[in-house]
Amino acid sequence: MQQPSAKFFNLLELEDLAAGLIARPAFDYIARGAGDEQTLRENRIAFSRVFVDQRILSGKTVQNLQTQVFGSQLRAPIMVGAMAAHGLVHPAAESETARGAAAYGTLLGVSTVATQNLEQIASASQGDKWFQCYLTRDSGFNRELLQRAKAAGYKAIVLTADVTVGGNREHDRRNALRLPTPGNFLGNDGCCRPLDLPFDSRIGLDSLEFVRMHSAGLPLIVKGVTTRADARAVLQHGVDAIHVSNHGGRQLDGSPAAFDSLQRVADEVRGQVPLLFDSGIRRGLDVFKAIAAGADLVAIGRPVLYGLALNGWQGVQAVLEQLEQELRIVMQLCGAATLADIRNTPLLHGASGSEPTG
Ligand code: FNR
Ligand code: LAC
Repeated sequence: MQQPSAKFFNLLELEDLAAGLIARPAFDYIARGAGDEQTLRENRIAFSRVFVDQRILSGKTVQNLQTQVFGSQLRAPIMVGAMAAHGLVHPAAESETARGAAAYGTLLGVSTVATQNLEQIASASQGDKWFQCYLTRDSGFNRELLQRAKAAGYKAIVLTADVTVGGNREHDRRNALRLPTPGNFLGNDGCCRPLDLPFDSRIGLDSLEFVRMHSAGLPLIVKGVTTRADARAVLQHGVDAIHVSNHGGRQLDGSPAAFDSLQRVADEVRGQVPLLFDSGIRRGLDVFKAIAAGADLVAIGRPVLYGLALNGWQGVQAVLEQLEQELRIVMQLCGAATLADIRNTPLLHGASGSEPTG
């Protein structure tokens, strides 16, 4: 599948490979985080604070990992998270990513600020897709985008709520980064629409009602939940799923590791709605720990763009396959044959991993 020159054996080394292929300003935009990157680092470190026991003589072997969510069938509980501007790393942009996600057999999150417009991406593959919504200050435009997403066959709306202002990304200012105008913001004549300000900084719980009303019955997921209080609030407003994320450490530097937030939010949600998780996943072991902590589905961010840069749709597919392969090894060694077995696996906290909590 992968070109011999583009071989990678884990998603961590993939970043270095991609750094050699992607122009510096674009690479920094993708790879780096906000402020001092404390949260970006913590997103990785947090996974290494918990341990899992190996189990022997279980008599089990790993089964299929099929996962269902809002009517979509996924090959495993791993999806591609919504990210802006895939055109920075591949000429066929999100259409190519869509082909990779479909070849693997999972969902694609499609960003409001994708390089291509949502109809182009929808028609690029047979695979199911979710539309990730940013609310702009133009409510007519917001309404139109949601209606277009429904018409184009998107299966759910993900309202990302943690970008009421762009995070403090110094490297982008230093590099004088200029992102191309998103496809959804171009009129039919290819001209940029006269949008007031890209994002609305005043979105509130009433915005959930707005999104629901104009997406005509599509399931609504709120992305960017990191606290119990916010989880409670959105649950009270009837969201269909909660997505725990700190935007990959790109927004509020100094916020806790997403994996730590997941453990708290899962305790609040207690299975009332599906729980999604992202930020920092690079290993199958991380996926295992996230599911053991209560996630139903994880989203992968940066590594997908690196795979795309390296080898187009096949690179995207290879990234997802690599994670699944690692997850299967962990499952086998932990005596977990099914996703339900993972959920019942205790996570061990503390230096020697001696305190079970799950
Ligand atoms: C993102 N992310 C993001 N999220 C979102 O809801 N809408 C968006 O347009 C974007 N854009 C975006 C661009 C780039 C280049 C990156 C790296 C990320 C955040 C993304 O969905 C996800 O939360 C993080 O990427 C997860 O962290 P990891 O897996 O990259 O560490
Ligand atoms: C980002 C925005 C677009 O993280 O979500 O760059």
